[in-house]
Amino acid sequence: PLVTSTKMFQDAYAGGYAIGAFNVNNMEIIQGIVDAAKEEKSPLILQVSAGARKYASPIYLRKLVEAAVEDSGLNIVLHLDHGEDFEICKMCIDDGFTSVMIDGSKHPFEENIALTKKVVEYAHAKGVVVEAELGKLAGIEDDVNVSEKDAAFTDPDQAAEFVERTGVDSLAIAIGTSHGAYKFKGEPRLDFQRLETITKLLPNTPLVLHGASTVLPEFVELCNKYGGNIPGAQGVPEDMIRQAAQLGVCKVNIDTDLRLAMTAAIRKVFMESPSEFDPRKYLGPGRTAIKKMVQHKIRNVLGSSNRL
Ligand code: G3H
Ligand code: 13P
Ligand code: ZN
Ligand code: NA
Repeated sequence: PLVTSTKMFQDAYAGGYAIGAFNVNNMEIIQGIVDAAKEEKSPLILQVSAGARKYASPIYLRKLVEAAVEDSGLNIVLHLDHGEDFEICKMCIDDGFTSVMIDGSKHPFEENIALTKKVVEYAHAKGVVVEAELGKLAGIEDDVNVSEKDAAFTDPDQAAEFVERTGVDSLAIAIGTSHGAYKFKGEPRLDFQRLETITKLLPNTPLVLHGASTVLPEFVELCNKYGGNIPGAQGVPEDMIRQAAQLGVCKVNIDTDLRLAMTAAIRKVFMESPSEFDPRKYLGPGRTAIKKMVQHKIRNVLGSSNRL
């Protein structure tokens, strides 16, 4: 069935591993991810962004995820990614999501608290769990000075106060990751000291790492080889994700790596078989590429294989 992440996060916290939260937008993406989780016997979070709801329409995504649950027999968390206001969180809760993110990170501290509290009250009354965010996702640019960095990254004392006052179930933190395929200009760096301080102050709160794709060079190169143009892409090295998973990080958000894997596979078909025009002939390899990528993440990076 659809489940909340409560037990998954407790186990991940204690076991020093993390659960992958993969963004879904269509049938092939869902099937590829769920197939991988099933083969790896891994807990799984499928997450839907506002953009995904707009693209596929909410009911299609919900029904596809329900089909995945029924077909796979897995326990799956259906999560709203980056809910920007109370209304979208309420809609998803009312629609049967088991987890929502209220992303109030762009608001001042007190407003973020008030908004998050309001979502937590509504969600908890319906048995739904809530993720919130404190701090701004941004890479450590070489030209960013210390006070700017301090302002953007999650303040550990504020994080403790935030969780205490909101009653939120998990917290997304900013320690140097960012969304998309261009995360670092120079050497990749994350503020692990900050992460350790937050983990010490919040020993029971599952932490969430957004912008956690690795942007594997192999896949960028494949995209470029088959006619793409994605120069200078760089993500979070896999070792850093492993290190974060051993601390309080229980949920690792991955979208970009799926996009790159699927695009590389589809581009390859287009380039090598230009006479092909049956969508199944390229969406199929796209789906297989997603499955392989997710299997790699689960087994080699997140450590969530055989944890059911
Ligand atoms: O956080 C961003 C996720 O990668 C979802 O992206 O808003 O384009 O669906 P999206
Ligand atoms: P990536 O862009 O690194 O895959 O991050 C995805 C994410 O954080 C979704 O919320
Ligand atoms: Zn995110
Ligand atoms: Na962990």
